[in-house]
Amino acid sequence: MQLKLTTAMLCISLWQVAAAAVAPQLKLDEYYSYEGMRDYLAELARVYGERVTLRSAGLSHEQRMLQTITISNGDGRKDKPVIFMIAAEHAREWLTPVAALYAIEQLVVNFEQNAQLLLDHDWLIMPLTNPDGYTYSREVNARWRNTRSPNGNGCYGTNLNRNYDIAWGKAEGYPELQDPCSEHYAGASPFSEAESRAVRDIMLELQLTEREFMFLTLHSRHQSFFYPWTYKTELAPNAALLKKVATYAVDALHAATGCNYTEEQPSVNADPFGGTSMDYAQELGFKLSYTFELTGWSGKEYVDFWPPTRLLKQLAAESWIGIRALAEGAEKFVPAQSDSLVKIFKILLLLVSMTLFSS
Ligand SMILES: *[C@@H]1O[C@H](CO)[C@@H](O)[C@H](O)[C@H]1NC(C)=O
Repeated sequence: MQLKLTTAMLCISLWQVAAAAVAPQLKLDEYYSYEGMRDYLAELARVYGERVTLRSAGLSHEQRMLQTITISNGDGRKDKPVIFMIAAEHAREWLTPVAALYAIEQLVVNFEQNAQLLLDHDWLIMPLTNPDGYTYSREVNARWRNTRSPNGNGCYGTNLNRNYDIAWGKAEGYPELQDPCSEHYAGASPFSEAESRAVRDIMLELQLTEREFMFLTLHSRHQSFFYPWTYKTELAPNAALLKKVATYAVDALHAATGCNYTEEQPSVNADPFGGTSMDYAQELGFKLSYTFELTGWSGKEYVDFWPPTRLLKQLAAESWIGIRALAEGAEKFVPAQSDSLVKIFKILLLLVSMTLFSS
């Protein structure tokens, strides 16, 4: 009797170990630290190694790893167009890495429900683009927005989303972009920051391998989908498509939550400024490029950049509806690649000639 009990207990504990190894739990009842995010991603990669690859895209100014996760459906195809998503360019926008981790969980752990999103695209996600600023925001000053590289005179930090080499420093309405002590500071030169260089290098690699499909940077808290340009008021050449896919996401969010997100070209409603990651990706030739501004509200409760932890799950799930809808909209409305039509045509020719040859 005693032996039986022991065996049963052993089975239960083994079963628990197995269950834990199968499904790493994303914690949504507290904000992750930089280290906590790394641990979660490492656990995911250990369990889902056939569909997940972790890479270091470089080091931040304070030598933290700029980690990316590439998610595929494991079918072995290496040439799929990529959806490249980054979060937390701005340190204080704490909901954005939560939303990125939630999206990762949906694509990896809830793979079956979201398989369609991985059929023709891989996802490459950098959930914490500014780990130094994020850590400073958590530990010292919650309002901190920039990186932590020194600018002299006791001033620190560059605004990563002004630091890209696209109309860099252009700022008719914002002289603060040149002020090394301002949270708008565009940096000493384009790509002065290790973190923006790391993102750029990923974009360039995708461009080189012709997989630059959609770029998406998560910010908060305008409750809106921004599309290029930010640095000028002219329409982007693909403005109609950008608007159509964004509207699809706005409609999906409204249908699912009743919340009213907007879609807009930011330079039309406010003064243009240069140096954004979204404009840089657009200029490089990504088919679609967006800034998804997450919400700062839960119903009538204003939560600003730092939602109370009891709301993280709800707001991450809401954000995911928007991210997923952008990907679905892209799939629906972006015209099929002409080179894949060429491939199909070649295969057809081959089949026809084989048939002729064999008869
Ligand atoms: C969203 O907009 C519609 C139409 O303008 C309005 O009736 C509705 O109350 C709004 N919903 C919220 C949650 O603000």
